Amino acid sequence: MKKVKTCIFPVAGLGSRFLPATKSIPKEMLVVVDKPLIQYAVEEAKAAGIERFIFVTSQGKSAIEDHFDSSPTLETILKKRGKDQELQALEGLRLEPGQAIYIRQHAPLGLGHAVLCAEALVNEEAFAVILADDLVLSREPCLKQMLNAYQKEQGNMVGVMDVPYDQTHRYGILKISKEEGQKVYADGVFEKPDIQKAPSRVAIIGRYVLKKEIFHHLHKQHPGAGGEIQLTDALQKMIPEKPLCGFRYSGQRFDCGTKEGWLEANIAFAASCPELRLNLKTVLGKYSF
Ligand code: UTP
Repeated sequence: MKKVKTCIFPVAGLGSRFLPATKSIPKEMLVVVDKPLIQYAVEEAKAAGIERFIFVTSQGKSAIEDHFDSSPTLETILKKRGKDQELQALEGLRLEPGQAIYIRQHAPLGLGHAVLCAEALVNEEAFAVILADDLVLSREPCLKQMLNAYQKEQGNMVGVMDVPYDQTHRYGILKISKEEGQKVYADGVFEKPDIQKAPSRVAIIGRYVLKKEIFHHLHKQHPGAGGEIQLTDALQKMIPEKPLCGFRYSGQRFDCGTKEGWLEANIAFAASCPELRLNLKTVLGKYSF
């Protein structure tokens, strides 16, 4: 099987659950400890061997392009002032010339539609998708774990985790047919089912490895849950042709599209950072809950 080299980052959503913070700042530029969410996502993709980074953006998201661009004035000043560590931090986030591609989704018609916007830019048989607001703290980067496990797969793969039954209405939920170690195979997938209709509590998180045939199904997709073109519905349509595999990644996932998830991510990432750990403990100790 050919290596997966392309990753799509859909960043064109409204981020309405995080208003007013996201009125003029893209949700994907929200910072967890010291880096914006989209930088964590790009670093995760780089660590998994991704070489082409496709950002599906929209109006008001140009801060994302600027973040991955060079900044000659700032770099010159830092160099003059001998700020080597700060310069290094900037160099680490730059993408090589030609590696970053930006395309616009003209209206927030759903995740499936956002992925479809990148169709003409995907040359390979399979490609990855990362939703930057789903942040995963893990020893081995989540997408790397998935691409290793994907070697023997023929169909689509999604990152999955178990959620409480009363939260199934927030996720795409798999109907499981078979379990093999960290892999679960699905013969159905349902977008945001109520607790009564949920076939399991195995939920899709924002990590996908998709076969190019998904575009064919996305073209035919009508608006689904929330009036949006859902990626989950296209995955469901593809099941008779190609197996759908859920991968139980190792790590902890934070939904940084919500205030609660973002707050917890900040605490978890700070706690995992040797320089901040002690201070965090002292600070948290000041508050009684
Ligand atoms: P969400 O489901 O979190 O939607 O999108 P959202 O619009 O960003 O946020 P809320 O629900 O209004 O608070 C998951 C990911 O898919 C992207 C988002 O940018 C986010 O990274 N997305 C979503 C798009 O690129 N386009 C869309 O039309 C919808």
